[in-house]
Amino acid sequence: MRPAINVLLLLIVVSMLTEPVQAQKFEGLALTPPMGWNSWNTFACDIDETLIREMADAMVDSGMRDAGYVYLNLDDCWHGTRDSLGFIQPDPDRFPSGMKALADYVHSRGLKFGIYSDAGWETCGGRPGSRGYEYQDALTYASWGVDYLKYDWCATEGLSAVGAYTTMREALASAGRPIVFSLCEWGDNQPWEWAQDVGHLWRTTGDITSCFDCVVDHGTWKSFGVLQILDMQEGLRAYAGPDHWNDPDMMEVGNLDHVHEDRAHFTMWSMLAAPLIAGNDLRSMTPETVEILTNADVIAVNQDPLGVQGFKYAVRDGVEYWFKPLSDGEWAMTLLNRSLEPVDVVFDFASEDVVDRDFGHEARFSSVTYNIRDLWEKADRGTTAEPLTATVPGHDVLMVRLTGR
Ligand code: GLA
Repeated sequence: MRPAINVLLLLIVVSMLTEPVQAQKFEGLALTPPMGWNSWNTFACDIDETLIREMADAMVDSGMRDAGYVYLNLDDCWHGTRDSLGFIQPDPDRFPSGMKALADYVHSRGLKFGIYSDAGWETCGGRPGSRGYEYQDALTYASWGVDYLKYDWCATEGLSAVGAYTTMREALASAGRPIVFSLCEWGDNQPWEWAQDVGHLWRTTGDITSCFDCVVDHGTWKSFGVLQILDMQEGLRAYAGPDHWNDPDMMEVGNLDHVHEDRAHFTMWSMLAAPLIAGNDLRSMTPETVEILTNADVIAVNQDPLGVQGFKYAVRDGVEYWFKPLSDGEWAMTLLNRSLEPVDVVFDFASEDVVDRDFGHEARFSSVTYNIRDLWEKADRGTTAEPLTATVPGHDVLMVRLTGR
């Protein structure tokens, strides 16, 4: 046999011995939690291209884009019907210029463009789902210039979540355009246990609603306030990290009853290393809402490259004490007052033992002294050598960063 034929035969044998090639998710698209805006929380199905263009402009003009909010995501109800070849079309009345033109506009504003579909036969809003059309839809999204896909879980009776979401991962991979893949099956199938290789983030709960402390019963399903969603994150932090995040749902900052609640909500989502996807009307934000959403120090806690979620260290007098390890040995600390009344607190660092049992970080307050920086007041609060004393208003937080000296 000639050497060239030998080599060829060897290659054939080797290729028969190796596993079939499985596509992967696009690695590295979400090394810190994704930041952006989504249409659902305020507009539900009432969206059109004018609104989305105005929102793109508002993201730029308000300073949101420059603060890090880059994804402009359409949620449900942008769809029209499939054409005779099965290609999905946008609603012709609401999106007459088409999705490519809209994506081009969003990109021209220095933003990225996100879209929504569903693993089942229909979306939650009754529009065409991607079931059976996964590869075709992925190609279509790639041709439009989509950068982010939220993939819902309505009308999926009889489907396996692992199978359905993996199919869409493969479809996105073969379409070839890097697209952040956001799983939205409400935590029903414990995605934290299997989705690390499938997508970049996964919802952990049912839908959020615009209240701080309530449950809304819709008959066949419920939606949840900020505190209820926060409580449902218990036990999940060990599963999250860079490129694979727990998603406690999009934010209601700007939609809650009081600025204290908006601040507490934003703080806790930052402590959770949650995706920061705003859901309010960015065209009509109050200055307080802008200030909350664009607080660079709080965003830095959320976006810290270590990518470790915070944990609840203690609960005293209705106040929760949370700690989040940060890079370079620093820490974020938050006192969350769940009650409506102000609470006086004293926290004596020297006698506390703050250990992150999931990731092995430890704050050695007895041997290390940190400076304390208040991230909302933007003021120094002494050092951890002295006890921290404060009054935390009702439904509000004290958030500080413990920095090296
Ligand atoms: C589900 C999702 C929501 C939203 C709606 C759209 O309820 O959890 O976030 O996308 O569907 O219909």
